[in-house]
Amino acid sequence: MENSSRLSGFYQLGQDERLNLLKSHCALDDATIQTLKDSSALPFDLVNRLVENAIGGFTVPLGIATNMIIDGQDILIPMATEESSVIAAVGNTAKQCRDTGGFFTSLSGTEMIAQVQIIGLTDPWTARAKVLERKDEIADICNACDPVLIKLGGGFRDLEVRIIDTRSGPMVIVHLIVDTRDAMGANAVNTMAETLAPRLSEWTGGKHHLRILSNLADRRVARARAVWKAEAIGGSDIVQGIIAAADFADADPYRAATHNKGIMNGVSAVTLATGNDTRAIEAGAHAFAARTGRYRSLSHYEVTPQGDLAGSIELPMALGMVGGATKVHPTAQACLKILGVTSAARLSGIAAAVGLAQNFGALKALSTVGIQQGHMALHAQNIAIAAGAVGDEIARVALRMTDAKTIRQDVAESILVELRQT
Ligand code: MEV
Repeated sequence: MENSSRLSGFYQLGQDERLNLLKSHCALDDATIQTLKDSSALPFDLVNRLVENAIGGFTVPLGIATNMIIDGQDILIPMATEESSVIAAVGNTAKQCRDTGGFFTSLSGTEMIAQVQIIGLTDPWTARAKVLERKDEIADICNACDPVLIKLGGGFRDLEVRIIDTRSGPMVIVHLIVDTRDAMGANAVNTMAETLAPRLSEWTGGKHHLRILSNLADRRVARARAVWKAEAIGGSDIVQGIIAAADFADADPYRAATHNKGIMNGVSAVTLATGNDTRAIEAGAHAFAARTGRYRSLSHYEVTPQGDLAGSIELPMALGMVGGATKVHPTAQACLKILGVTSAARLSGIAAAVGLAQNFGALKALSTVGIQQGHMALHAQNIAIAAGAVGDEIARVALRMTDAKTIRQDVAESILVELRQT
């Protein structure tokens, strides 16, 4: 995408104007624009195939974060979220680091882990050795499960056998390390684990039990970094303020949970917009945050030799581009077109960058004016709608509440009664 993501005034346009701009910016066809325009773009026969007992669809707002430059490329980011301020925060944050080149990303790999649990062993160390002796045979069994994956350059990569002590006694846990390329890979690795498990029982004399992927996808870690010039973000006091906020999160799990939740506001919105599994990404992120034995922050901030603020983030990112809802959900497909991505690796880097952008925005707001100022204006509109305001009334009720610094449904209801009387 050669166009700039710096779409100044995008937020002031109407829906059609925004979609027209997107159409020319991302070279989208009419059908894609129609899909985006129709906020319930999911046909019922598809809904009915995706979930059981289907009754309809549940639409989440979809917006575009502007201003992002990722790995030297301007990129518009579709984000699906019900939370106000999240998309605006990403755009504002991105604007403040455009002069330093935006965000730079990398991915550690596209390998997933499937676990097979073996129980009932009196000799776990011997069992471990026996399994490791069969690595080549295991590779063949796994690879035979998914010829398409092999053709695409993926497949079995490695074998780990761990012995863990549990309340039920020692267990042997076999890890199949599988490169799933552009797929999230759950189906591929679960099939391999289920196919292999009876053989593991046979070889070890134990009993295979659970056979399932691990969402702690620590061989699929996405990283992003950016530098914000001190003068671009309000000076060295703000740099120091953000660092103190980040250090608080890294030292205190109570704060880290909220800090990381802010990161996931961005990551999950990209995950959902692209039809990926938000729970898998959330579970992986939080398990990774606790990998040292203490729950810590997923991001780091430090001062550069020039006195600017450098932020970085690292978290598991098992995102796919093929298969699952990503492949069949028309809006997810439209979002991938907007992103212009052709690999899961690129998508993962983008999601990490959005997580960092979101985190910087929250820390900057929290260490300066607080989040309520920006948040409450939008929140007030939601409260006004909940109180029954329609059309122009929404903005008028919201404004009256923010002016009075009291944003509550009962207040919105009485303002509404008063407005309608006059
Ligand atoms: C709100 O959804 C997210 C924040 O609480 C994140 C944070 O505290 O860092 C603002």
